[in-house]
Amino acid sequence: MNENEHLKWKPFWDAQADVADSHEAVRGDRIMSDDVQAFHDMMLLAMFGATQADAVLDAGCGTGDQIMLFSPYTREITAIDFSPKMVNRCRARIAPEEFHFRAKVSVKTGDITALPFSDDTFDKAVSVAVLQYLNPKECDKALAELARVIKPGGVLLIHIKDMWSGTGMMITFARFLRAIIKGRPPLEYQYRTHWWYKKKVRKVGLVEATYAYGTWTPLMPKRMMAAIALWETKFRLLQELFPHGKEYFIKIRIK
Ligand SMILES: C[S@@+](CC[C@H](N)C(=O)[O-])C[C@H]1O[C@@H](n2cnc3c(N)ncnc32)[C@H](O)[C@@H]1O
Repeated sequence: MNENEHLKWKPFWDAQADVADSHEAVRGDRIMSDDVQAFHDMMLLAMFGATQADAVLDAGCGTGDQIMLFSPYTREITAIDFSPKMVNRCRARIAPEEFHFRAKVSVKTGDITALPFSDDTFDKAVSVAVLQYLNPKECDKALAELARVIKPGGVLLIHIKDMWSGTGMMITFARFLRAIIKGRPPLEYQYRTHWWYKKKVRKVGLVEATYAYGTWTPLMPKRMMAAIALWETKFRLLQELFPHGKEYFIKIRIK
């Protein structure tokens, strides 16, 4: 398995950086409703638990959504992205907002599998919607790199696409059928189960909390969604066995 396979995505992300809307530039389209986006942001903030003392790394920053979200709550945010065009795009997007950021923000070119920082540089790190573009060996490298640059006892929060969800299984099955009929496309990001990722992250730290949310939710009445979320927080096994969304967060305490 090639450890530079992820580089074939670089031209794709350089091209995406030219797409007009900041959300479309990283997601291709706007499939998340505003409610689901708000839920995503709320969970990210609550699970990350940033404090005013934290130096934070955002690995794979795209157009800067996580920078905007965390900037009122942290001391410093360093964001990296391996696409130089995405880095420029991100800098241009945040520049007019910076006057009301509390955090000091810097955005650089850098690869999550070879982070350009010395050991124990950050208190916390976040990586949203990036690991699905890496093969298993590259994921190991990325997680080891993230653990290296976070101080012992610090927090890593990753977002993954969970195959073990209604949406994830439907998409995986549809891809399987498409592969039989048309063959595999040259670029395809990976759906894996949350258990697959948890096994990997246990090598670098302790899993502290998990949560799923996702694209089922726009189909659900809001009260039903709230009731499910409440049950899931009371009965953790429910969330473990039947996460209801393909978007999944894992919070890890670094060894
Ligand atoms: C789906 S976007 C997510 C961006 C942002 N985290 C967000 O949630 O809006 C994925 C981003 O990860 C970046 N990326 C992909 N592979 C990377 C790697 N190996 N190292 C650094 N960045 C990477 C891409 O250039 C792209 O900007």
